[in-house]
Amino acid sequence: MSVQGTHDVAHPTAKRAPSCALVIFGAGGDLTKRLVVPALYNLLKVGLLPERFAVIGVDHNDRTTDDWRNGLHNFVEDAVKQKGGEFHPAAIDEQAWNRLAGMMTYVTGDFLETDSYKRLGAKLAEIDRAQQLGGRVLFYLAVAERFFGAIVDRLGAADLVVERGDAWRRVIIEKPFGHDYASAIALNTQVLKTLHEDQIYRIDHFLGKETVQNIMALRFGNGLFEPIWNRDRIDHVQITVTETVGVETRARFYEPTGALRDMVPNHLFQILAMTAMEPPVSFDADAVRDKRAELFAAVRTLSPRDAVRGQYGPGQIDGKTLPGYRQEPGVAPDSNTETFAALRTTIDNWRWAGVPFYLRTGKRLAHRYTEVAICFKEPPYALFRDTPVDRIGDNWLVLEIQPNEGIRLRFNAKVPGPYMTLENVALSFNYADWFRQAPAVGYETLIYDCLTGDATLFQRADQVEAAWRVVQPVIDAWVATKKPGFPDYAAGSAGPDEADAMLRRDGRAWRKIGA
Ligand code: BG6
Repeated sequence: MSVQGTHDVAHPTAKRAPSCALVIFGAGGDLTKRLVVPALYNLLKVGLLPERFAVIGVDHNDRTTDDWRNGLHNFVEDAVKQKGGEFHPAAIDEQAWNRLAGMMTYVTGDFLETDSYKRLGAKLAEIDRAQQLGGRVLFYLAVAERFFGAIVDRLGAADLVVERGDAWRRVIIEKPFGHDYASAIALNTQVLKTLHEDQIYRIDHFLGKETVQNIMALRFGNGLFEPIWNRDRIDHVQITVTETVGVETRARFYEPTGALRDMVPNHLFQILAMTAMEPPVSFDADAVRDKRAELFAAVRTLSPRDAVRGQYGPGQIDGKTLPGYRQEPGVAPDSNTETFAALRTTIDNWRWAGVPFYLRTGKRLAHRYTEVAICFKEPPYALFRDTPVDRIGDNWLVLEIQPNEGIRLRFNAKVPGPYMTLENVALSFNYADWFRQAPAVGYETLIYDCLTGDATLFQRADQVEAAWRVVQPVIDAWVATKKPGFPDYAAGSAGPDEADAMLRRDGRAWRKIGA
């Protein structure tokens, strides 16, 4: 994270990353083509990739470097035509693409075979010698969770992660880091046998989103908000991450995972931490991560009573009729997997005692929408009690993360006229109105940070474990008991009624999604 500002990806003072090699395990996978390679292309375009740089793709399929490069080129070309995905520049700059493609080499290798690592080591040494890369290597594990520990073990055994002087060796580990509390601890123990903590970059791509990073800028770059950012003035907070997509082709992953594990201890908790953590003493990686870790330590372990699960049935989104979760390919017809989760979390510290943080996320909901909504307390005396209640509203500060990127402040104002009546209005700020944004898929900052050794936006072992600790009792309860009412919300709706009832019990209501 460049503290000078990253809104434009290339800031005038941002420097090129040092010469190095990037090794991508999972070179033929979805993540590589959809996000990692497009992010490298974007970084190259804005001059942040090293002049001397090599990308080595490793995967089990026997193919040539040309075949790998061509496959990636076809994908980005299609992405440009379709405009649907994360990567949609107006056109591919072929000169820039060719420069990137020229840096790419493909190595066939089974992730579990020792020989693959010998071949990779030899290729790395050859490329390093030829291009003078200084012995620096970033390994990107864009693979399924079951390979993380195994690859790190084998990199260690092949002597590929020993650091010598400024010849650093770093490893990016993708999500999910573990699938519960015990497996997260076990994975940390395993990788820490080979690597030092400061060599490990545990990615959560939500921290690559500009608007998530902006929560810190809003809170700590302004004198206005911090004095009211506590239990004295805040009634409660709602964090919403809703999606319109369903399980798509990912049933094999999603069936044993579900919405809670897929989204909460990682993405939603990152947003929670940015919103609720204490101010760090500096933007030094450990100063920020210490505060995030402190916050996670203060989040009370959840009770299943404070959690609601849901599963989508058939329904309609944008006029399109969609099947229910149980009818999706690869999903069991009596699946107990939740596609929606809502939680009431509590933070046991001085600042937040008594302020509930409600979290909800789900698939096949009415809108794709992510926001943090902070509800302020009512004025101490209801001077305007004669104003019709439907016109007056709460004071909300809404941090819109996606797809709208902005900040809205809702408050009550006088309606013009000879009588005193109020109406809830909004002050709005939109990123797009203020900043020229370079095309970005959300991985640019994260990859650049790894190349420059800035771990601020990555998870430390203690944070990952604390997050799983918080949700573990709910995972256990949901695995142990089959939910009788599934499916319990229609595709295209706002989620199950039970989630509304959870807030009603507290005398509150969810904000309308996307309102
Ligand atoms: C991934 C989850 O980590 O995040 C997906 O596995 C989810 O299920 C995705 O759809 C959401 O990310 P984004 O950036 O599209 O909001």
